[in-house]
Amino acid sequence: MNRKQAEQRTRELHTQIRHHDYLYYVKDAPEISDEAYDELYRELEDLEQRHPELVTPDSPTQRVGGRALDKFPSVRHTAPMLSLDSSQEVAQLERFDERVRKAAEGEIASVVAPKLDGASVELVYEEGVLVRASTRGDGRTGEGITENVRTIRAAPLRLHDGKRSVPGLLAVRGEVIMRVAAFEQLNERLLEQGREPFANPRNAAAGSLRQLDPQITAQRPLDLYVYDLLASEGASMETQWEVLTALSDWGFPVNELARRVSSVDEIVEYHAELHEQRDDLPYEIDGVVIKLDGLAQRDELGETSHHPRGAYAFKFPPRKEVTRVLAIAASVGRTGAVTPIAMLRPVELGGVTVSRASLHNREEVARKDIRAGDRVRVQRAGDVIPQVLERVDEPGRKRKPRFRMPAKCPSCGTALIERGPFTVCPNGFECPAQLAGRIQHLAGRDALDIEGLGEETARLLVAEGLVKQLPDLFDLSAERLVELEGFAEKSAGSLVDGIARAGSDVELHRFLVALGIPEVGVAVARDLARHFGSLGALREASTEQLEAVPGVGPKMAEQIEGFFGDAHNRAILERLEDKVTVAEAEGAAADILAGLKIVFTGSLERMTRRDAKQLVESLGGRVSSSVSKETAYVVVGASPGSKHDDAQRLGVTILTEDEFLDLLRSRGAEF
Ligand code: IVH
Repeated sequence: MNRKQAEQRTRELHTQIRHHDYLYYVKDAPEISDEAYDELYRELEDLEQRHPELVTPDSPTQRVGGRALDKFPSVRHTAPMLSLDSSQEVAQLERFDERVRKAAEGEIASVVAPKLDGASVELVYEEGVLVRASTRGDGRTGEGITENVRTIRAAPLRLHDGKRSVPGLLAVRGEVIMRVAAFEQLNERLLEQGREPFANPRNAAAGSLRQLDPQITAQRPLDLYVYDLLASEGASMETQWEVLTALSDWGFPVNELARRVSSVDEIVEYHAELHEQRDDLPYEIDGVVIKLDGLAQRDELGETSHHPRGAYAFKFPPRKEVTRVLAIAASVGRTGAVTPIAMLRPVELGGVTVSRASLHNREEVARKDIRAGDRVRVQRAGDVIPQVLERVDEPGRKRKPRFRMPAKCPSCGTALIERGPFTVCPNGFECPAQLAGRIQHLAGRDALDIEGLGEETARLLVAEGLVKQLPDLFDLSAERLVELEGFAEKSAGSLVDGIARAGSDVELHRFLVALGIPEVGVAVARDLARHFGSLGALREASTEQLEAVPGVGPKMAEQIEGFFGDAHNRAILERLEDKVTVAEAEGAAADILAGLKIVFTGSLERMTRRDAKQLVESLGGRVSSSVSKETAYVVVGASPGSKHDDAQRLGVTILTEDEFLDLLRSRGAEF
């Protein structure tokens, strides 16, 4: 290949890789396999090595090139990055709406979008190439974090100019976030390394963005959404909706939940809808942002020294509050790990009353120096258990002595052992607390889903000797239950019925979750069920066969094999199989959506988003958050978002919720 050909091929590879990065990281809809992608990437690396003069800053290989800095340069923003006036009260929102309607002329429409809980950034592009990125700082001047932002795969290094011409200068504002799942994994990794975990995804995003060494930032799973223009030379737009469309055309990730509305009632409804979805979203949001759609109207309204008058944040109730620790208890879970739990004076967090929060392990308690009687800040993030963030200092107050882990298991009295920062009861199957934990786990939503069998009941059943091993659960009689405290004839009967119902025709993956195999969560259980089809096949699988399942690594394969190899587990399993009927995974309806991508938009009436996702996945399909040519169906609920338009544009089949359910039934699905 001569130099000219090399140059030509380099350019082609840039375009192709950029396109596939976009499909993968922005649209969540890849079109080629990882292997095919790697091949393109390696070819480019190879060419660049042979022709170093062809390496340009916007090359896909140049995301992690920057050297570590001593300190961040200070960067003046293209335009001030203001913050938003905000409130949690509908009355305040209505006042904002009235003010806007009074001041603005003509019809009013607004664009509503989730208020993402991350770190605000400015990205500047010259001639379509990313040249500068900075944190918000004080709103006028921020810190230059260009090299770090370059490592975020969702951030385009060069803009797309196919659909719409790119202005010579473009400055945009967006939010760098960390998805909840990625955040939890990162924290696990940090804890394993004996380092301090981040308190929440926002801190993790901001902290990762402010690393002086871009190599470190590159290892942090950051993501980005762009939502506003700060400056654009040569692009004229009239509405915020058009801005979002343009940003998307240029290749920026734009949040798919944004919607155009025309009344304050619709805003309140949108807020309620997102609040309900909050725990199911893959990232943290803390409210909704409302922006006047007409850009001329917005300009006319102007701004105070801090806030634009044509935009507002309608927030959710906070999930962080201060309360007092009444006591610290040591609680034994189903795996035997002993967790220090802060018993709290009850406090409302985002609409839920919280009276206990996890303190993780003894090293965490020591590091945060939390003692009984202290005032603490507690937080609930995503769907996870509430946690104690920090102690609130109270100078002059006499504090109680430090917490110490008990030497013996609070449940069975066995001497506890230490494993790294964790404390463990080694008494396994004999420890009542571990058995109660296993019962509770078996009854959980992702396992057998037995209503009325929560923590308290599980403990009671064990304490009263009604359940000595997991399978005893299926021998319970209403007569025996009625004798227990807190049970009446009716509740006893319905628990026994519930257990019987849950134990018949159980989907294999639910049964696997119920067993509580170490390392096997919902997703892995589904993969295992689909791969092996029956419990018998899985039970006899070798580590090699297990590793053939996508998503199962050597460590997990060993754990699974170990679980089924253990004599005690085998005995329990045998008894369980006498009582529970497990459905084979390859039923008639099992795979009617195999390989199909489904997108939901708008609010559903027959099921929650979570149920819809579970349904699709149980039939072998996948739920995706954006529409592409690959999408099989777009299912439209009430007040659909832009995905509906995308579907029309791309000619993807659009179904109402009822049509979708009918379609599944007509193909043999039962629900
Ligand atoms: S618009 C002038 N839209 O919320 C308009 N902000 O004070 C400026 N935020 O720190 C902001 N999601 O970082 C806007 N969809 C969204 C947002 C958003 C999150 C953050 C922003 C700012 C704070 C508002």
